[in-house]
Amino acid sequence: MARVANASLASGERALGPISTHRGYETMGLFDGKVAVVTGSGRGIGRAEALLLAREGAKVVVNDLGGSGAGEGADQTPAQQVVDEIKALGSDAVANYEDCSSWSGAEGMINQAVEAFGGLDVLICNAGILRDKMSFNMSEEEFDSVIRVHLKGHFAPSHFAGRYWREKAKSTGEPTGAAIVMTSSEAGLYGNAGQTNYAAAKAGIASMMIVLARELERSGVRVNAIAPVAATRLLGTVGSGEELANNPALSPENPAAGAVWLASPLADGITGQVLKIMGGFAQIVENWTPATQVETDEIWTIEALDKAKGELFAGRSTGVRPFTTGKI
Ligand SMILES: NC(=O)c1ccc[n+]([C@@H]2O[C@H](COP(=O)([O-])OP(=O)(O)OC[C@H]3O[C@@H](n4cnc5c(N)ncnc54)[C@H](O)[C@@H]3O)[C@@H](O)[C@H]2O)c1
Repeated sequence: MARVANASLASGERALGPISTHRGYETMGLFDGKVAVVTGSGRGIGRAEALLLAREGAKVVVNDLGGSGAGEGADQTPAQQVVDEIKALGSDAVANYEDCSSWSGAEGMINQAVEAFGGLDVLICNAGILRDKMSFNMSEEEFDSVIRVHLKGHFAPSHFAGRYWREKAKSTGEPTGAAIVMTSSEAGLYGNAGQTNYAAAKAGIASMMIVLARELERSGVRVNAIAPVAATRLLGTVGSGEELANNPALSPENPAAGAVWLASPLADGITGQVLKIMGGFAQIVENWTPATQVETDEIWTIEALDKAKGELFAGRSTGVRPFTTGKI
């Protein structure tokens, strides 16, 4: 089978090879007979995730609204192109052009998976936009739109997928073996200046992921998140990201492999975790954990807390913690 050519790929995105030759040592796909929904999979990391799932045998609902990096407009071309690429690989896919943050759109995309392919096994919430500004310059619309697309755009499909899996687990009496992978970001985990809207949403997504991991455990659903860095359209629009967006080491295939691995049976037992992937660098990032502690038998007073300050900050900086990142 010929390699799939796609002239519209952004830097760092490359056409992937034919199905079932890539792993060499086996021809069975990890997702044979499984069905996946990937939001925002017309471009960038989501596209790489959809293609990798398809190469591993999954049937994929390729959701993409097709708007600009700031979330303006709509275009069916990106989702349709990925569907065509998946079909050229010998797997099956359908396009979905809904806004993933619309309640009815999210319900429709989960129903579409069940109607088109007979079920649902994997949901990857990936779609995202950016409207960066310093907090004091940010408009209400810039704040609301980014919170909506990311936070509600991760919650709404998870709500309907979770409902589907809960009912399935109840009716069959069997754990579903299903998985959700969400997309957080270092911007939210460490707090990037200029991105209050985005960082709040991405930190919220990391917390939401932990809640969902607890809530859906009884239905046999694992829920994890990736914190990717990849050369995509989106990274190119971040102030400091232009150079990174042209770095060939930052292929979207790196975080896509992380997300698809987390969704796969190989990651059985892994749930409630954040996996950061940036180029060849992978890291587990932990959620908020207690750092130091002091206690009192009385009601705390300002004076008592001030007295305990030395103990609370023993050996620690009292300033904002540095923006931690990995290496490429
Ligand atoms: N690229 C990075 O370095 C990086 C870093 C951290 C986090 N992320 C996250 O990874 C995810 C993917 O980003 P990317 O870099 O591949 O960006 P991208 O712009 O290349 O792709 C995002 C896709 O999402 C689609 N989309 C946007 N809003 C949508 C909506 N409401 N409904 C359906 N589809 C929608 C867009 O049309 C686009 O095709 C995002 O959640 C982003 O925040 C990316």
